[in-house]
Amino acid sequence: MYKTHQTCRACGYGPPPSAIYSKCDDGKQKLLSVLDLGVLPLPNAFRKAGEPRPGHYPIELLVCPRCKLGQLSAVVDPEVLYSNYPYVTSPSHMMQDHFRALWKRVNLERKIETVVEIGSNDGLCLESLVHMGAQRVMGIDPASNLAELAQARGVITLTSVFDRKAADMVSAAMPAIDLVLARHVFCHVDDWEDFIHNLLWLCSRETLVCIEVPYAQNTIDECQWDQIYAEHLSYLTLRSMEYLLDCSPLRLQAVQSFPIHGGAIALFLRRNDSEVKRHDSVQAYLDAERCALSDWERFALVARDQITNLKLLVRDLRDQGKSVVGYGASAKSTMWINCMGLNEKDIGCVYDTTPQKWYTTIPGTKIPVVPHGSFYADKPDYAIVWAWNFLPEILEKETRWRQDGGKFIVPVPEIKML
Ligand code: TMP
Repeated sequence: MYKTHQTCRACGYGPPPSAIYSKCDDGKQKLLSVLDLGVLPLPNAFRKAGEPRPGHYPIELLVCPRCKLGQLSAVVDPEVLYSNYPYVTSPSHMMQDHFRALWKRVNLERKIETVVEIGSNDGLCLESLVHMGAQRVMGIDPASNLAELAQARGVITLTSVFDRKAADMVSAAMPAIDLVLARHVFCHVDDWEDFIHNLLWLCSRETLVCIEVPYAQNTIDECQWDQIYAEHLSYLTLRSMEYLLDCSPLRLQAVQSFPIHGGAIALFLRRNDSEVKRHDSVQAYLDAERCALSDWERFALVARDQITNLKLLVRDLRDQGKSVVGYGASAKSTMWINCMGLNEKDIGCVYDTTPQKWYTTIPGTKIPVVPHGSFYADKPDYAIVWAWNFLPEILEKETRWRQDGGKFIVPVPEIKML
């Protein structure tokens, strides 16, 4: 169900494949373990009573001493993770704002008409791009439940992982692709060289590739340790991307930050023979990037403190007879709750707006996920915001509850009450 991965997927640093048989191996060239969270349930395995659960897997973060990429030591079989996937893109205002900003950016150099999205989820992004002017779009996603939702929106979707066969099928269906979009999917991919190779089949000299990922610099600076889970195999630094692309026919042409998902970067790639020049942003980001080993190590220490401190806070509030619930049944909520070792007596329930998650439980616990609709009527005393990446709009939405005395606990970047 999972395999271990001990070499850097960006720069190749790590023990040579034969090292375990070699008496000469001094073990020096290896990735460094900075945070071991133990064996945890899959964070998006929201299941109803009686439905089979896909098990527990080790979550250990390794960091490459050379390119500073963070990556998990275990790679769970994608079939287990994605064949029935409950994560749907949040139809929030923040997300719509993000799609608008992204669309504006990708149209800067050349008008975009045809778009292929890898990991197109329920088609929300492509549908939005069509509303903003894209003429032809096509999605690729391995989750058949999500591809169905996308088709219902009118977004043609190939149900498949992004492999060579899928690339062939898409390039046959869409001969001239202006933009290949891969939002929050690249760090879910184990074999990056293969991904880049398959990407090339979609790219002409004019094609712009936009890979949007959480940025390791934000993960470290904001101590977003709860983004470290089985699906996120990598925590990308720009240096690692430079190593990866070094000998490939694609190059990093520009970089831009976006506030979505707690701080993401969009990496704009083009073929080496493109006439579009490398933008100054690439060097500026490379110069500003830190992500040293000591930064990763400090991050791990703060993460452990955060877990302990939130647990103590929840227990203290429960001792005072207060009700504590969760707000947003994100994968992050699974990480927090399981790492704190809390149960349904500590956290009464987690409210969420996603119908697919209702009446399930937080993986690894008996804590129910319930519709957001009853949040105000239930009047909990405290709600821990596990969709903290949407905090501004959540605060706005729950003004009345807060005016009535309800308090949010925001766990990231540091625990605070609002
Ligand atoms: P995400 O951070 O991985 O996108 O997950 C956020 C989860 O929080 C998702 O299940 C939707 C949910 N959510 C709410 O319940 N209320 C909200 O206002 C927002 C923005 C998200």
